[in-house]
Amino acid sequence: MRLSNQIVLITGGSSGIGLALAHKFSNQNNTVIITGRDLTKLEFIKVSFPQVHVFQSDVSKDADVRILAKTIQEDFGGIDILINNAGVMNLVDAGNELNDLSKQMQEIEINYNSPIRMLHYFLPQLKRSNNPVLMNVSSGLAYVPFAQAPVYSGTKSALHFWTLGIRSQLKRHNIKVVELLPPVVDTPLAQGADITETDNLKPMSPEKLADIFWKDFVNGKEEIAPGISKQLKLMSRLGPKFIFNQLNKRPIPRNN
Ligand SMILES: NC(=O)c1ccc[n+]([C@@H]2O[C@H](COP(=O)([O-])OP(=O)(O)OC[C@H]3O[C@@H](n4cnc5c(N)ncnc54)[C@H](OP(=O)(O)O)[C@@H]3O)[C@@H](O)[C@H]2O)c1
Repeated sequence: MRLSNQIVLITGGSSGIGLALAHKFSNQNNTVIITGRDLTKLEFIKVSFPQVHVFQSDVSKDADVRILAKTIQEDFGGIDILINNAGVMNLVDAGNELNDLSKQMQEIEINYNSPIRMLHYFLPQLKRSNNPVLMNVSSGLAYVPFAQAPVYSGTKSALHFWTLGIRSQLKRHNIKVVELLPPVVDTPLAQGADITETDNLKPMSPEKLADIFWKDFVNGKEEIAPGISKQLKLMSRLGPKFIFNQLNKRPIPRNN
């Protein structure tokens, strides 16, 4: 696996984990392209991080992704590393019929359907690369669901299983499949979650997560589960009910 001089595409790179990964890859002499929906956010990033390439592109829109793939092929000659990072999390009370159905459907579209779409349109480019890598950013919640975000937890566990499945298929095309399962990380996404001090879920900084990721990535690890994510994996096997109850002392989100 090559760690420098690669063309790296990170979806949702204008904030949090995606942005920290963008800095990490860029610092190692890679060409980094990031996407997001909000052009203002992307342009703002470009001011302090001029070497990054930015594209406004919504992963949930088929036309956007097709145009992105065509533009990157023309401008950069294709990608070597695809990082499916873009994601959203909604706190939902499934027992409240007034909850927003369209937001939940969109959450599935962004978190689960879109990585499949991205791979579909970027597969020809990955196949042409000498060192292709696909990385999916799922979550420690793929191991144990967080009841306050039931759709989110479902999408991340689906993404985890899709990743396990395609890893064995893409091997024969020489595409390495990596999964990053972050713990709670201090980003706008996590700041929207209803976590209090008593939950013992102290967020990790995005920079620390990127450091841990890089060490494991360099060592060729395929499933990277930093911090509490590793414990969630273990406990989901040893005591699934116990760990579920520990994580979900307050299953109903406030303001729902
Ligand atoms: N933070 C955590 O505790 C945590 C834990 C485990 C896993 N994760 C996962 O890590 C990934 C990154 O999350 P984060 O915490 O860094 O969140 P974040 O700071 O809110 O960043 C999310 C990024 O995704 C982009 N995005 C959202 N919807 C998009 C769409 N439809 N098309 C393109 N870009 C889109 C956002 O930009 P725009 O809004 O401008 O589109 C933003 O750049 C997510 O997949 C998340 O599920 C996070």
